[in-house]
Amino acid sequence: MEHQSSTQIPHVLIFPVPLQGHVGPLLDLAELLCLAYFKITFLHTTHNHQWLTKHTDIEARFSRYPGFKYKTVPDGLPDAHPRTDPLRLSELFKGLASSAKPLLRDILVGDKVTCLILDEWLSFAYEIASEVQVPVMAFSTSGACFTWILHCIPKLVEAGDIPFKDEEMDKLVKNAPGMDSFLRYRDLPSFCRKLDTSSCRKLQHRFSGEIQLIKQAHSFILNTFEDLEGPCLSLIREHCSKVYSIGPLHAHLDYKLGTKEKTLSNTNNFLEVDQSCISWLDHKPDKSVVYVSFGSLAILTKDQLTEFWVGLVQSNKYFLWVIRPDLVIKSDLNSPITQDYLLDGTKKRGCIVKWAPQKEVLAHRAVGGFFTHCGWNSILESIVTGVPMLCWPYFTDQLINSRYVSYIWKIGLDMKDTCDRTRVKNMINDLMERKHDKLETSMSIMSHLTNKSISEGGSSYTNLDHLIEEIKAFIKKEPTF
Ligand code: UDX
Repeated sequence: MEHQSSTQIPHVLIFPVPLQGHVGPLLDLAELLCLAYFKITFLHTTHNHQWLTKHTDIEARFSRYPGFKYKTVPDGLPDAHPRTDPLRLSELFKGLASSAKPLLRDILVGDKVTCLILDEWLSFAYEIASEVQVPVMAFSTSGACFTWILHCIPKLVEAGDIPFKDEEMDKLVKNAPGMDSFLRYRDLPSFCRKLDTSSCRKLQHRFSGEIQLIKQAHSFILNTFEDLEGPCLSLIREHCSKVYSIGPLHAHLDYKLGTKEKTLSNTNNFLEVDQSCISWLDHKPDKSVVYVSFGSLAILTKDQLTEFWVGLVQSNKYFLWVIRPDLVIKSDLNSPITQDYLLDGTKKRGCIVKWAPQKEVLAHRAVGGFFTHCGWNSILESIVTGVPMLCWPYFTDQLINSRYVSYIWKIGLDMKDTCDRTRVKNMINDLMERKHDKLETSMSIMSHLTNKSISEGGSSYTNLDHLIEEIKAFIKKEPTF
């Protein structure tokens, strides 16, 4: 390494969507590339940078890599904007596109960037990178199953699969290659529901464009692994030239760092972590606690919150529940839970935090099940720690993810589209008792395969090596003046 001149060191610009579930895995990828001695610039919003530095030791984590630096860009939104409101995410994308464009061009040219690793959803950046001739590697924070169904959407509209009627929800989707024997209309991404003809056309147009951009990218990187999603990855490979599956990134990074340094990688949080739940878990028997978290974006109505709460208390299981300050729809906040038996049940068996150290919680011996919204990061974290899931998907990719978790991988149960108290109670009992052993057996096979994939010689390990070599090769191709 000492013999390498600075012009031979690749400089990678990493640009994530400014949301928790996207920044986390891309910070892990940034660190993996730092370990390969690359120069990395991590471009994210001023707003998120403030949260990360306030709540984590992120500065310390990266200070040991002299080639790493942050650059920040305003997201173009007023301070009071609820950036994580799932119903207003389009404002975040628009604001970011308008404020980041000029800065992005300056960085790509002025900082002599070798390649841009771009969150696949930041479509405005493809054009700029192409203008200044910097190769783009698209990155997906979702599973290959979601990526593949997105590829299918224009054809599904053309073939009349979309729009579909409410009463067709349990029928199989006819024109989704590789998925037509098990994927129901109910499992399609949430934005495929309740469409009229004109919104269908818009959807078709939008995804034809998005897919075109991904196909034009030099390569496509996914936070998944071959043993989990081989069939979907093969289908994607028919359309994209180079596809690198290198996940689960957080476990891959832990493996490369070795056990001593593992803890430092737990620094991706926008919210302050409440560590007190770990001592609460320390006092509980093995596999006795259900961990409940609906990720960083999902919101509940007061009625849904009540149904979950009653179901949890009536299940008679210990539960650790993440209730983010913005989990419940604001207008519903004025009527907090008051029933005595719920408060008593929670005092006896529950622990509620605003934000948990999720990976540490899932790895705790006391946790026996994960009641999750099925975000892709949560699924991977559950697989790595071998904890079976109960899925209540909220939106977008989570609906197809939960079908794969329950029907294909058999590592969890799917509670999609319902949340009445009796069902919650019964399914928690299924997760923790009746179906636990069966789920745990498939889960432990999958966990074993995960470990294999990120260990030396495994598929993700080898694919990351190839990705690193490909980025190095960009330098050799650069013109010398
Ligand atoms: C959304 C999508 O659903 C997901 O599939 C996509 O790829 C990214 O955006 P999100 O709601 O953020 O996801 O969920 P998830 O992907 O599961 O990510 C949440 C992250 O927050 C996880 O890494 C989880 O460990 C972390 N988390 C969550 C905590 O650290 N503490 C908590 O209390 C809750």
